[in-house]
Amino acid sequence: KRPAGAPDKSLARKVNKVGIVGAGLMASQMALLFVRRLKVPVVLTDVDQARVDKGVSYVHGEIDKLLAKKRVSQDGANRLKALVTGSLDKAAFADADFVIEAVFEELGVKQKVFADLEQYIKPEAILATNTSSLSITAMASGLRHPERVVGFHFFNPVAVMPLLEIVRAEKTDDATLATAFALGKSLKKSSVLVKDASAFVVNRLLLRFLGEVLIAVDEGTPFEVADKALEPLGLPMTPLVLMQLVGPAIALHVGETLHEAFPDRFKVSENLAKFVKAGKSGVWQWDAAGNAT
Ligand code: CAA
Repeated sequence: KRPAGAPDKSLARKVNKVGIVGAGLMASQMALLFVRRLKVPVVLTDVDQARVDKGVSYVHGEIDKLLAKKRVSQDGANRLKALVTGSLDKAAFADADFVIEAVFEELGVKQKVFADLEQYIKPEAILATNTSSLSITAMASGLRHPERVVGFHFFNPVAVMPLLEIVRAEKTDDATLATAFALGKSLKKSSVLVKDASAFVVNRLLLRFLGEVLIAVDEGTPFEVADKALEPLGLPMTPLVLMQLVGPAIALHVGETLHEAFPDRFKVSENLAKFVKAGKSGVWQWDAAGNAT
């Protein structure tokens, strides 16, 4: 059955090579998924060789885990590893059919990445973004080919979470959208078309919920009480453990974007802001009064 809003699949283009800009955790997880499901070359890039190498090693390490679990044969694992490469040379993207960015969540940075890529990639190659909350239309503005820009938003852990939010920007054409849906299917994800609105759908719901837990802590509810209160509902993770998985800095960024868009509905937790601004990416720590330390 065709997902709601998806164009006819006959419009989809083939994806024989994937480019990924950014080699951080989301980008590396995406690289693993693309290579595993599509079995096509996947090239990762980042701002320096060390980051690129780290991304490629992550993918190779995850392929080794699949081998240990007997999900792939030794030959299969070798073939998959050979398909994943890293490069600082943008020319490596020249023959990619689908390029996705997962760089720092700042509109200007992402616009620059897209404008730069346009100089190297084929005019019909798709430019996708894994942004959690930014406007895809704004990201495409100023490009020569805004019609090939699409939102392609995965959830962490990418290998496990079934949902994919596909976002149509103002000028996205049907061929781009059809390709995004066909790709989502090949990646074995459940794709939904969402509006190009701040934080789309899932993060808006999630931040409302996680945000309230943190605001309860801001207001004096002890950390453990706030975090564990909903445990009997059978959630796979408590809210603050989930926020740890997503990354407090990303959660703060999405929260701030939503606060800007809907100030009456979304508040930014003081404790979350303090925690991130103190540069803490490790385990949450709280003092006896329940303040992030
Ligand atoms: N990376 C890769 N794979 C992982 C993983 C990770 N971080 N964590 C678990 N897995 C895999 C395991 O390897 C295992 O795979 P196999 O079955 O193939 O062996 C599978 O997931 C199940 O693992 P476990 O049995 O150890 O774990 P679990 O049953 O406790 O489930 C979980 C783990 C799937 C992460 C579950 O706790 C869960 O669903 N948590 C909620 C996650 C969630 O809501 N994510 C969305 C965050 S929002 C977001 O990402 C959007 C954004 O823009 C910020």
